[in-house]
Amino acid sequence: MAFADYQNEIYFAGLHGVVPRLPMTYADLEPPAQAAMTPSVRSYVAGGAGDEHTQRANVTAFEQWGLVPRMLVGAKERDLSVDLFGMRLPSPLFMAPIGVIGLCAQDGHGDLATARAAARTGVPMIASTLTVDPMEQVTAEFGGTPGFFQLYTPTDRDLAESLVRRAEKAGFKGIVVTLDTWITGWRPRDLAVSNFPQLRGNCLANYTSDPVFRSRLARSPEDDPQAAVAEWARIFGNPLTWDDLPWLRSITDLPLILKGICHPDDARRARDAGVDGIYCSNHGGRQANGGLPALDALPEVVEAADDMPVLFDSGIRTGVDVIKAIALGATAVGVGRPYAYGLALDGADGIVHVLRSLLAEADLVMAVDGYPTLADLTPDTLRRIR
Ligand SMILES: Cc1cc2nc3c(=O)[nH]c(=O)nc-3n(C[C@H](O)[C@H](O)[C@H](O)COP(=O)(O)O)c2cc1C
Repeated sequence: MAFADYQNEIYFAGLHGVVPRLPMTYADLEPPAQAAMTPSVRSYVAGGAGDEHTQRANVTAFEQWGLVPRMLVGAKERDLSVDLFGMRLPSPLFMAPIGVIGLCAQDGHGDLATARAAARTGVPMIASTLTVDPMEQVTAEFGGTPGFFQLYTPTDRDLAESLVRRAEKAGFKGIVVTLDTWITGWRPRDLAVSNFPQLRGNCLANYTSDPVFRSRLARSPEDDPQAAVAEWARIFGNPLTWDDLPWLRSITDLPLILKGICHPDDARRARDAGVDGIYCSNHGGRQANGGLPALDALPEVVEAADDMPVLFDSGIRTGVDVIKAIALGATAVGVGRPYAYGLALDGADGIVHVLRSLLAEADLVMAVDGYPTLADLTPDTLRRIR
């Protein structure tokens, strides 16, 4: 089945009076989804750093590029599949790690719903360290779709190694180490309501289920949740340096991917240190305001990464955005907030709708504009819009 078929499915259902339960655009999805969230989850998901200029710029950066259509190509069938770390994936799309995705679901188990959506769509989930349900329960829902584990590296190295061992055993296919969030950026929306979900004991299941973490506590997290949160706050953020990279490399044979790389020199240095992939992202503008849109950083990072795959996120709102990021050199493209909003409105079905809509639009643009494969989408296919 082609991704574009979602369009016919919707139109044919319309012949029986059925219209999609969820909105068809991000602009229409955001308001009801935010309304469906509790105020604290809403501010955490919707908000970003500072006055959110970088968060907005991530999105508008895509509007600066236009895809040039080519005619008489006959792109009747399109191939959106990609090779990633030896795996053949049906599309370049993946779900970026979202730490409170568990809380975005109405039943409070959004990590499991996300994993089920991954199973149904073939779109991989990168599971955050910060989940409501432990990673072993998340991977149990993956079906045949591969998934990745995103590590927030704690200062306690034994705990970091334990998390990675567990991730390997649970069946994740790669470790994504997020580098830009060892400290939380200045987020006025959360500050205004004095809200930081983890400090209220949310999304700490991977810690409280971990034997090393538990061994650090005088009493179990079940008996003394406050002490567990205090220990989590003490060990959460590790200001890693390049000197830590050989250790990180040594603790797993799985593909190691560094998230948050936006400078070509950092990409080069990471490659020299033996990592397997670069993840170009500015965390959706949640960490540092006043930066470049991640899309503007992408081409130089791609060039520096050389033969390493480059994952990209920050600002993906449409299927055309996915296509533009691929044309600028991304190997795979992550969707963030949109799937959190789909989940808030309609559980796993809501995520599936968001993912299928992105993929259908991407596939149809390739059809209409005459680009049958992702390899056809080179930087030359884009022009700057004046
Ligand atoms: C509510 C929320 C929580 C997030 N939690 C994490 C996380 O736990 N780990 C991580 O590496 N990135 C996290 N991110 C960043 C995403 O992986 C991704 O970089 C970002 O959502 C991309 O921006 P966009 O959603 O605006 O497109 C989070 C993003 C949001 C919106």
